[in-house]
Amino acid sequence: MNDGATNEGPFVHQLALGPWDNFITFIGDKASRTCAVVDPAWDAATILREAERLDVRITRILCTHSHFDHVDQVEALLQTVDVPVHMLREEVEFSGFRCNNLQQNRPGDVVRVGEHVDVTFMHTPGHTPGSTSYRLRGSIVTGDTMFVNGCGRCDFIGGDPRVMFGTLRTLVSALPGDTIMYPGHDYGSTPTSTIDAQLRDNPFLQRGTVQDFVAHRMEGRTPDTPLPPRPDWTPSSTH
Ligand SMILES: [Fe+2]
Repeated sequence: MNDGATNEGPFVHQLALGPWDNFITFIGDKASRTCAVVDPAWDAATILREAERLDVRITRILCTHSHFDHVDQVEALLQTVDVPVHMLREEVEFSGFRCNNLQQNRPGDVVRVGEHVDVTFMHTPGHTPGSTSYRLRGSIVTGDTMFVNGCGRCDFIGGDPRVMFGTLRTLVSALPGDTIMYPGHDYGSTPTSTIDAQLRDNPFLQRGTVQDFVAHRMEGRTPDTPLPPRPDWTPSSTH
């Protein structure tokens, strides 16, 4: 994989944006100069400028889940690019998310970006009931399921630490060790990692039993916590 659309073939590129260090991820096909944008949030103009800088046309929007810090610029983007918006049906039903061009997908669905890049929907619940990771050859975009040396909170409404435990186990056993992970937030020591490195370093993957995992994940947290309101933020804000 390449960071940026500088070579032929597929690429994955991260744009860090917003006060919570979200990653907006571009999955692209250099040959056809097209891309999917994963989790457009915080500022549509910055996202559009980044696509222009990469010299790619946005042909799809992929949502890992429905939290506003991942989807709040979907409608704003649609005013410039008239493209399908994908979210797993489980997440749409949980959240009531609606937007123009919404496609409700099933686990295992595959969508093509450009001419060559196939992206598979993996259902990875735990942070929310319909959380999705997007898999392509050699890479996975994990949203708020797995971070570099971390994992998504399970105390927000719809979260379930027991489910997360199973999801993380499935994820690391389903993927080759050299798979590059692109998380939904820049919370780690590096912007990306690999499955092998996470098996070695991620404390949430060191918990051997579901009870141990739940205790660790929920320490100091209360179940069914509402998501905080959107902070007032623009690209010019200092934070
Ligand atoms: Fe989230």
